[in-house]
Amino acid sequence: MSEPDQRDRAIRSARRLLSDLAADGIDYLPKPSRVAAPLEQESKPDTGEAGEERGRKIERAAVPIEPSLFTASSNESLDDIRAHLGDCTRCRLSEGRTQIVFGEGHPEARVVFVGEGPGAEEDRTGRPFVGRAGELLTKIIASVGWKREDVYICNVVKCRPPGNREPQMEEVAACRPFLERQLRSLRPRVIVTLGRPASQTLLGRSVAITKVRGIWQEWEGIPLMPTFHPAYLLRSYTRETRQAVWDDLRAVRARVEEDSDA
Ligand code: URA
Repeated sequence: MSEPDQRDRAIRSARRLLSDLAADGIDYLPKPSRVAAPLEQESKPDTGEAGEERGRKIERAAVPIEPSLFTASSNESLDDIRAHLGDCTRCRLSEGRTQIVFGEGHPEARVVFVGEGPGAEEDRTGRPFVGRAGELLTKIIASVGWKREDVYICNVVKCRPPGNREPQMEEVAACRPFLERQLRSLRPRVIVTLGRPASQTLLGRSVAITKVRGIWQEWEGIPLMPTFHPAYLLRSYTRETRQAVWDDLRAVRARVEEDSDA
């Protein structure tokens, strides 16, 4: 095939891919970093989703990451991880934050909730999910018979993004090793990701939350349930969205209890 034919074919197939993604509700495609060549792609277990086959994995940003972050043992404590995070300036979010919001909860929690990033109230208090979305999350946790203190709550990024914007790829890349170390240290029975950014960070691919919520996934062998972010529920407080989150949390509770019986 001639070079122009090959180019036309590549353009047609890229167009087809974009239109398939749009039909799936995917409105986010991570941009590769321009700083340097992207690091290796993550090899996650194939969840069997069609999107995975279409190569929708998120490329890791080329942010310099300390090698020790990857060699950390899984039996390090949350305090060790917090100490290593220090007064972090690994990304530009450090410039606008009041304080780091590391996470809080039971060190042996069976369930970990992962949000996107601190908001104004969290930035002020240093605690995750204490604003309006946090109040709703606390109610959601109570609705299945747990208390906030029984679970662990943290975010993908530990510093408030300005104006509560979504964390950018380089910011997620800089903070993600700390999230992963928290999860390895906690080794919960179930991880609940709240909203699209948290879900796609741990799944390693771009997702439409409306498509994946309520469907069991996995992170390093731990069952992971993606559900709607409570801030989304506040904006769209319909019978359907509430029902969806309650259903997801009931499934989480059943999974945790089923494992406890084993
Ligand atoms: N939204 C989040 O994602 N995390 C918080 O801690 C608060 C609001």
